[in-house]
Amino acid sequence: MITEAVSYGSDFLGLLVKAYKDSDMTKKLTIDEILMSMSMIINESLRLYSPFVSLNRKIDREVILGKLTVPATVNICIPTLALHNNTQIWGEDAHLFKPGSFAEGVAKATNKNPVAFLPFGLGRRTCVGMNFCDYRNKDCTLNDSAAIQNHSVTNLC
Ligand code: HEM
Repeated sequence: MITEAVSYGSDFLGLLVKAYKDSDMTKKLTIDEILMSMSMIINESLRLYSPFVSLNRKIDREVILGKLTVPATVNICIPTLALHNNTQIWGEDAHLFKPGSFAEGVAKATNKNPVAFLPFGLGRRTCVGMNFCDYRNKDCTLNDSAAIQNHSVTNLC
């Protein structure tokens, strides 16, 4: 009898798809759990390898920031990458790639300082492509993976 060899690839996504297809319900992952794992990996990648290393602003008019009075024309730099590597926020192992830190959301990962995670900026100038990127990152990763080449995403859902 000829049986079809099923390979999901040996990368991390391959392992996720294998778990999705697992007939053992104790090991099986749902599509939501796979997408959650991908979000954690994407967040951790954006934390350690943030394409925007800083956010810069020029002050138009005098502003009061807490105890500070900042005069007009001053340039302010918010060092995103430094914040993303701050050991007081992320722990002593801040330099390590640990997607699991995001398992319970950004607030928990940042030790209750969610604004310390700024890959897409914050406030009125937040990246307008943020949600698009989130969708495309997951879509491309799923479709590019060797694991998915024979198992289209539509088959997964
Ligand atoms: C991983 C990919 C991306 C990252 C990390 C990123 C990050 C950022 C950041 C940090 C800002 C704020 C800059 C600032 O405040 O000075 C920004 C602004 C912006 N981004 Fe993105 N971006 C990404 C992809 C995209 C895409 C795909 C689009 C368009 C489809 C886009 C469109 C914009 C626009 C139009 C702004 C300016 C918003 C404004 O000033 O009102 N970005 N992005």
